[in-house]
Amino acid sequence: MSPVCVTLDAPDDFEGWREASRALLMAGVAPADVSWLVEGDQVPLFGGGSPPAPPPDAPPPRVPRDFPDLARLASRHHDPERFALLHSLLHRLQSERGLLDDAADPEVARAQAMARAVRRDAHKMHAFLRFREVRVEDGAFSAPHAALPQSRFVAWYEPEHHILRAEAGFFVRRFASLHWSILTPRISAHWYGEELRFGPGARRSDAPAEDAAEVLWRAYFASIFNPARLKPDAMRAEMPKKYWRNLPETQDIPRLMAEAPKRVAEMVARGATLSAGRRQRPLHLPAHLRGGMGVETDMPADLPTDPGDYAEAQAALRRDLLARNDLPPWVANATQPVMGEGPQHPLLMFIGEQPGDEEDIQGRPFVGPAGRLWNKALEEAGVPRDEAYVTNAVKHFKFTPTGKRRLHQSPDAGDITFYRPFLQREITLVQPRLIVTLGATALRAVSGRAMPVTKLRGSLLRDPEGRPFYPTVHPSYLLRLPNAEAKAREYDRFVEDLGQAAATARKLAA
Ligand code: URA
Repeated sequence: MSPVCVTLDAPDDFEGWREASRALLMAGVAPADVSWLVEGDQVPLFGGGSPPAPPPDAPPPRVPRDFPDLARLASRHHDPERFALLHSLLHRLQSERGLLDDAADPEVARAQAMARAVRRDAHKMHAFLRFREVRVEDGAFSAPHAALPQSRFVAWYEPEHHILRAEAGFFVRRFASLHWSILTPRISAHWYGEELRFGPGARRSDAPAEDAAEVLWRAYFASIFNPARLKPDAMRAEMPKKYWRNLPETQDIPRLMAEAPKRVAEMVARGATLSAGRRQRPLHLPAHLRGGMGVETDMPADLPTDPGDYAEAQAALRRDLLARNDLPPWVANATQPVMGEGPQHPLLMFIGEQPGDEEDIQGRPFVGPAGRLWNKALEEAGVPRDEAYVTNAVKHFKFTPTGKRRLHQSPDAGDITFYRPFLQREITLVQPRLIVTLGATALRAVSGRAMPVTKLRGSLLRDPEGRPFYPTVHPSYLLRLPNAEAKAREYDRFVEDLGQAAATARKLAA
């Protein structure tokens, strides 16, 4: 077969790659005969001709369920070989059905590493991108609509991979009411309130350097900076130098570091515990500072491995939740937020619905009747307790007060959406081998949409980030079953599910 050359429209043209890759496979072109280029690349001297049309009766390629997500993520990697690698995998998958389970296979390992790097890059972008305000009369940016807002918010960012198009939706959701632009060296994104457009790349000097609101942000950062926890190396790892230039707070870091020993001495003199940190008071930051600052929801994927840092990151999650000034109104009735418990890198991460009455009082998850049943089932399934992390999709107890009793009220879609970024951040921090969702609320919080538990129970699925999860029922469903026989039968099934989840997680880890 003579060599073939495929030119994709853009470096992140996943759909173009998918279509071309399928057609090449159906036409019987060997992967070694294909050169993959992106529009604007120099065509190699012996690049090859156009791809042949596949015969009309050629069967379409088949892939396992996990492949599209893996390929979509890996296709955004900056490695020029990525499209060839994915094409080779697609080709091999036709005869090697279980290929993706073979993490030792060099091509599989490489694609998975690419997907992880892209995911990490996206987390960093969510956390380290900063918008700065530009007055529209300044004339720097024009909108396609007649009614211009007075301000536009502009961010300069240098992602490592081709992620802007894929991640723009995150910023649209978070900053829907603002008009903003994200400028990167290769491409720019512009949100006009209703419409998202992409344009050519830009230069750092096209973005403004500073705006007044940063003063507020810097004051906030200084207030949450805990000198007793100062670990310069970990700080550099979490917030790599490359991003410091974009971040207003970094201007204060040298001063805060220099002042740290004195502040620790003062804390010790006051008798403060070193791990307590500072109590947060809600600070009213402008919207463009609130979300994209990585304060509330996002965390870079260079995560703490030191147990002290892990504990501090968990404490920070709680603090950030408490600092929110837009908590659902019913939260005012709850005693406290109930955060997750368990080790980092557990075999299983269990996600329930929300704390109940006892959890709300004790401030710990799964200590009430449903929790006791879950614990028993876990033991029977042979899952050591220290291999399980347990948390909830919703972090406060929602209830209806009726006389002396507080009647559990199910969280609604808005509640799940509100807490979801915290749950996502928790998952990123905990890094379980496998997530187990208990009941419909957790399934919705993890998958991002309403899904039927009974149909999906016991299957291995992937969340939108590509992380594996395994849905099963909530233990309180077992408690509610009216007859003993159904209760016993369903309990056995639940134990079976937990055992199956543990076996699956061990396989994934191998
Ligand atoms: N039910 C849950 O979903 N979570 C708890 O923490 C307790 C009961």
